[in-house]
Amino acid sequence: MAHKAIQVMGFNAANPVLVCQVATVQTPKPGPDEVLLKILCRPVNPSDVVSLMGIYPGDYKFPYVPGFEGMGKIHKVGANVSGLSVGQRVFHTGPGGTWQEFMVTSPRNLTLVPDSISDEVAAQYYVNPWTAYAMLQTLKVPEGEYVLQTAAASVLGRMFIQIARHQGIKTINLVRRNEQKEELKALGADVVINFKEENVLEIVREVTKGRMVYGATDCLGGKTTKLVSTTVRDEGTILVYGLLDGEDISANPPDVIFRHVRVRGFHLTRWIAKLGVPEQKKLGAKIWELLEKKVITPLTGEKLPLEKIQEAIVKSQVAIWFLSYDASAQRDPVADGNVTYLDARVRRENFVELLDEIFVEPDVLAHWLIVGRHHCSVPQRVVIADDSTDLDELHYSLVIVEIVVLVGINKNEIEEAMVLVLRVQR
Ligand SMILES: NC(=O)c1ccc[n+]([C@@H]2O[C@H](COP(=O)([O-])OP(=O)(O)OC[C@H]3O[C@@H](n4cnc5c(N)ncnc54)[C@H](OP(=O)(O)O)[C@@H]3O)[C@@H](O)[C@H]2O)c1
Repeated sequence: MAHKAIQVMGFNAANPVLVCQVATVQTPKPGPDEVLLKILCRPVNPSDVVSLMGIYPGDYKFPYVPGFEGMGKIHKVGANVSGLSVGQRVFHTGPGGTWQEFMVTSPRNLTLVPDSISDEVAAQYYVNPWTAYAMLQTLKVPEGEYVLQTAAASVLGRMFIQIARHQGIKTINLVRRNEQKEELKALGADVVINFKEENVLEIVREVTKGRMVYGATDCLGGKTTKLVSTTVRDEGTILVYGLLDGEDISANPPDVIFRHVRVRGFHLTRWIAKLGVPEQKKLGAKIWELLEKKVITPLTGEKLPLEKIQEAIVKSQVAIWFLSYDASAQRDPVADGNVTYLDARVRRENFVELLDEIFVEPDVLAHWLIVGRHHCSVPQRVVIADDSTDLDELHYSLVIVEIVVLVGINKNEIEEAMVLVLRVQR
């Protein structure tokens, strides 16, 4: 028997999607202590993409099959395995990647999926829900106190809001798009702030009546961590668990020195390792319970077949920014920090609507289309297209963060360019 697997032969920090190739491989037979799992559903998490870039810690051997988590059905059971049978739905995390149709694994990497939970939800059981729960536990936020988080509209951020609400903890949530405010409030967020437009410190002071937030979580890094450090109470802690917007982490010296605000890292794998098996089991059962009771409702995106893994990665992480920009000023809008973020995911319908919004100023000389990746805030390439450019010749790779400067190109042509941008380089 043979099956399809995503095989990676080497990493690529600039263009991780390109390392994913679909291969047909011989399906292995399970040993006496193993099971053969047919994987039905696996998410594309930021950690998976970072692993393709070669910057996620771990001992990798090539060909490497990515995928830190996923769910499937037991297909064959080794002679010595007890308590598991063919056809059971199970969740998998542990050694061996889930981005393949079949995998041989040890029963200790598997957890039975409750019948009431869909495949899409079960496939995301570990990475995000456990982290959200673990960070709240680590911060020890008492009931009734406020906790602040950045990138609150992320899959993880939404779960964080739901778990906090369930535990009687109030949340202050930073987002960069106004349309996410109502969405997050509907999930139970107490306060949602557009940190690109509003005065975060002033709002936090007012909402908490000067007590400030008990603790915070941050997955943006860079100067956002510094902003967050001003909002935390004396002796409070900020857990930095991602670096979606920075290459470093900064904090406000007076907050760190005079107020003993602590900035520390958080990584689920390290936290879990310290927990011990009985506590891990308790937490595992708790997360299933929260999912079954729909206290946590993981966001599930579009479902694509395994062969379309490149498209799935692109869709999972691409963001677009637009800036109407006076090209004669010859300045770099990114360096100016003057970028208007308009949409999170590249969707053609949205894009056409956005163009209508952008083209309200007919006299702007250029429009900068910035295609960004969540994991890299610094554009790596600038492509200038003017009215003499043959748009068909523009070969954009979505996964390389790039700025496309469209000078004097009309709306329809930009729409065409966008179709090119959407084409994944192979
Ligand atoms: N340390 C750990 O153990 C651990 C475990 C799990 C996850 N994580 C980390 O948690 C983070 C969230 O994961 P996820 O799967 O929930 O991500 P996700 O669903 O892909 O969401 C990413 C969010 O980040 C926002 N964002 C991205 N770049 C930004 C920027 N430059 N400025 C402001 N906002 C930005 C996006 O805002 P828009 O909605 O506006 O696009 C989006 O809401 C990732 O960094 C992941 O690596 C860490």
